[in-house]
This record gives sequence, C-alpha cells and structure tokens, in this order.
Amino acid sequence: MNLKDEFIQFFVNKGHVQIPSAPVVPENDPSVLFNTAGMQPLIPYLMGEAHPYGKRLCDYQKCIRLTDLDSIGDSTHHTFFEMLGNWSLGDYFKKESISYSFEFLTKVLHIPVEKLAVTVYEGDDKIPRDDVSANTWESLGISREKIAFLGKDNNFWIPGSSGPCGGDTEIFYWRGKGSVPERFDHDDETWVEIWNNVFMEYYQSEDGNVSELSQKNVDTGMGLERIVAVLEGVDDNYLTSIWDKPRKLLEELSGISYEKEKVSMRIILDHIRTSVMIAADPAGIKPSNTDQGYILRRLIRRAIRHARKLGLDMNSNWEEQLALSFIELYENYYVELKQNREVVLSVLKTEKEKFSKTLEKGLKVFEKYVQNKKSIDGETAFHLYDTFGFPIELTKEVALEKGLEVDEEGFKKKFQEHQEKSRTASAGKFKGGLSGNGEIETRYHTATHLLNAALKKVIGPSVHQMGSNITEERLRFDFPCDHKLTEEEKQNVEELVNTWIQESIPVTKEIMEKEKAISSGAECMFIEKYPDMVTVYTIGDVSKELCGGPHVSNTSELGHFKIIKEEATSAGVRRIKAVLE
Ligand code: ALA
Repeated sequence: MNLKDEFIQFFVNKGHVQIPSAPVVPENDPSVLFNTAGMQPLIPYLMGEAHPYGKRLCDYQKCIRLTDLDSIGDSTHHTFFEMLGNWSLGDYFKKESISYSFEFLTKVLHIPVEKLAVTVYEGDDKIPRDDVSANTWESLGISREKIAFLGKDNNFWIPGSSGPCGGDTEIFYWRGKGSVPERFDHDDETWVEIWNNVFMEYYQSEDGNVSELSQKNVDTGMGLERIVAVLEGVDDNYLTSIWDKPRKLLEELSGISYEKEKVSMRIILDHIRTSVMIAADPAGIKPSNTDQGYILRRLIRRAIRHARKLGLDMNSNWEEQLALSFIELYENYYVELKQNREVVLSVLKTEKEKFSKTLEKGLKVFEKYVQNKKSIDGETAFHLYDTFGFPIELTKEVALEKGLEVDEEGFKKKFQEHQEKSRTASAGKFKGGLSGNGEIETRYHTATHLLNAALKKVIGPSVHQMGSNITEERLRFDFPCDHKLTEEEKQNVEELVNTWIQESIPVTKEIMEKEKAISSGAECMFIEKYPDMVTVYTIGDVSKELCGGPHVSNTSELGHFKIIKEEATSAGVRRIKAVLE
C-alpha cells in the first residue's frame, strides 16, 4: 500500500477523520501566497472554532515553500511537497500523540526502535521543560541517551511570525549504514528529522505577545519525500520511487543520464511538478508578473532554461509529457489534477511558447553584454526583464554561472521608475486604479458581502464566510449550513441581494483600529490574524465587514445577481457559486 494511504488508514483506525487536502493557494489567508504546512488551513480550528469533521483529523496536504527556491538542484529540497499530518483539536495531547507516532513508525513502517531519537523542548522562563513528552518517549522504549532537550530555536514551532504555536518534539531517524550510536547527537546529520509533533497551546501575536489558547491542540507534520527516501534507503530524494517515472522520462526525452546532469534535471523535475500543482489549483492562477502568478512564471521559465541547456527541443511537447507523468502520479489523490488537466497543459505550453521566443535572443544580448564585464547593471537586468521576459532571479542565476554579480538595487530602481510611468499613463484609462484587481472581480467582491448578508437573513446568523474565491466569471462562497438549500431559500437570497442592488446603496470604506472595528460590530473571519489597523467596508445597514477590498462605490454597479450552483463541500459546509449578469 502507498505510504499516504497507510498513514490515513492508521489514524482513521485511531478515531480520526480524513479531511481533503486544501488547495495550494490559501482561500482565506491573504498573508501567505501558498499553504506551507498541513496546519495552515486549520488555523481557525486550532484557535477554537468547531471543525465540521470533529476533533481528530488527519490528511495529506499539498504544500509549497518558497524559502527553498534557491536550494532547488540539491538532493533534498523541493518547492512542492506533501505533508502527512494528524491533529487533535482540544482532544488528546502529548502522551497519545507521541504513542500514535511511535506505533506508526515501529509497527506500521517497522522502523527499529534503536534507529529513532527525539528532541523535546527544554523550556524557557515562561514555558516549563517538557518532561511529559520525555517521560512518554522513555516509557515507550527510547533510551535517555536518545532524548535531547533543546531550546526555542529547535523545539518551538510557529507558522511564520504569529499564530497558534507551542513547544514540539521532533523525531529523528539514523540513516547511517553501520551500527547506530548509543547516544543521539543532534548536530550529526546522519540523524534526519522525519516527524514533528507540535503541542499548540499558545498564540503569539505580531508584537511577540504570547497568550494561552482556549484549547490544547496537537499538530503533527511528516514530509512525505523525506520519509520515503529514508525508508527506501537513498540519500537523494529524486532517486525515490516517487520520482522514478518522471525522472526516467526526462532521461529519455533528453537522451542524457540523470547522473550526468543532476542539477538541471532536479530543477526541471521540481519546477514542472510545482507548476502543475499551481496551475491545477481551483484559484485559477495563470503566469503573470505579480504574486502567485509570478512564482508560476518564474518556475516555468527557469525549468525552460534548464531544459534548453539539456538540449530539449522547444518545438516538441516535452513539457506536456512531463506534466502528464506528474498528473498521472497524483490525480487519484488530488481530483483537481484530473479536472484541470487541459488547463495545466495549456498554461505550460503557452508560457513555453511565449518565453522560448525571447529566451534565445535574451541570452545572446546577455552574452554580448557580459564580455569583459564583472557585473550586470540594473539597466541591463531591467532590459532583459522588460524586453526578453527574464525574471530577475533568472538573470541572477545565469550571471552566477559566469561568476558575475547583478546590481539588484539598480534593477529595482528601474523597475519602479517604469511602474510609475505606466501608472501615470494608464491613470486616465482606469479611474482610481484597482491594484491588480479587475473591475469585474471588484464587483464580485462586493456581491460576496451582499450574499453573506442575505444568507444570514435567510438561513440564520450562524452563516459566515468559510471560504471565498473570485474569478472574472463568478464568485464562490463557502459557509456552514446543515442542509441543502431549498429552491425557496435560494430565491429569497437572490431577491434580497437584487433588492439591495436596486436600492443603490453606497459602499463606504474606513480605516480604523482593529478593536474599534470589532466593537462596532464589523464582521471578520479571524480577528487575531488581522493587523492592528484594519479596513472596514460598510454597505448601508446591510453589511459591515473587515476586508482588504477593493469594492465598488455603490451597489447599483453590480447588475443582476444569480445563483448558478449550490452544493456541499464537506459535512456541514455548503458552497454557492453565483454570477452577476
Ligand atoms: N506544523 C508543523 C510543521 O510544519 C508540524 O513542522
């Protein structure tokens, strides 16, 4: 059986409910571009909100970490990875969590106890030393020599700079060939971390203030790539069974062996896989020059340059073949790969065609320019970006290969100057400017607030936004509700929204202190996650919500509102798709 399935089955047998992997693009969290850990979509529930599936959950979550982008090419880093995780939302705590992990590793994966070692939190002036975890490990058969107490740098986990957090215990595996040392040495890299069990009982705010959460949670994470490499006894993650098919395909396509061109091949494999996952995401990301779209563009373009280095024919469908091998590998786990297969292929092909046209010329300009030079000035870097579509990171990479530096500051200056110019030029065309949001999306933003308000009136005050997604074609809104909406309910919701549209209600925007916003009754999804100063949008006495906007200035701009679909996304959660006509 596949390790993902074994993991899920184990925890389901321990009373957990499997939840589906959330999309890689967070639906409710504008503070991050991608989900970076299994717990990210669960933050509201770790904070105390009741999860519709209960208090014991498990999943495999698609994650993308961009901090490792520059390390791609080595044997262990990836931009995309899957994280296996189990959670207790105010249910079991340290003892049970550690026992489950131990049982899974030794009984299901059959890892010998002596190959395991652990670290636990040594405590600080506020949080006591974690003797409960240490004693639990010892009672299970991990000797004292294999238990290390470490400080905040190692054994305290928080998602970024604020959020639910707590001390953790990390499990290490001895990947050496000979006999296992009696004593665990955390600095010896033959010991690799395979699993992290975080005991989330605190909340840390942006200003560093730590308070207790209303419940004690467990959040665990085990990186699939790493554990598979460990179990298969290879030092290079790209040599595990996960990568076998795509890797062999790339060897075939290029006629070069993996051993000969490891770095370029790893970059191509990693970047195409991540691009497939981003392009397939329901958020509908397309290559662009901002946010997730820029990351997607960078990944595809970097993969293309390395593919060209390997001599792949840009007129062949190499990118499609590789993408298909990844889709085949993952489609039974992530249904969007099946659903959006054609979208993925077209995104890759279009971007390849766009970039390979200018890549050649850009590289020639680059070669000509760098003769007898020690660095690339900002103007040239910007020219490569603006005329030949070279992301600055790509210019840096090509420069580095030649031992040259790039004046990044100079590039940024040119970039800003250019933005200023184009802003002035387009100011007349787009009144007010909508910071990357088109006019149509803006109308959907406002319609989403009206829909939320209408549902509260028709279904009840417990309705609130659990997820929202807007494209040029429609809005999507997820909310808690225990039944399928009746025709009458849907009609009432539509009528209410359309009445408010006809009433031409002004939409006003106000920036105020968070506390004031909340006490004034503004609705928000998750108060702790907002900055101290927040934007509140008010639509007459219909709606008042904390929101980044943008919104239209009057409901009369929306047109006619119509629900096109109403369905369940999971137990107790309904989804509405609606259009403005
Ligand atoms: N959230 C923890 C991690 O990502 C489990 O390591």
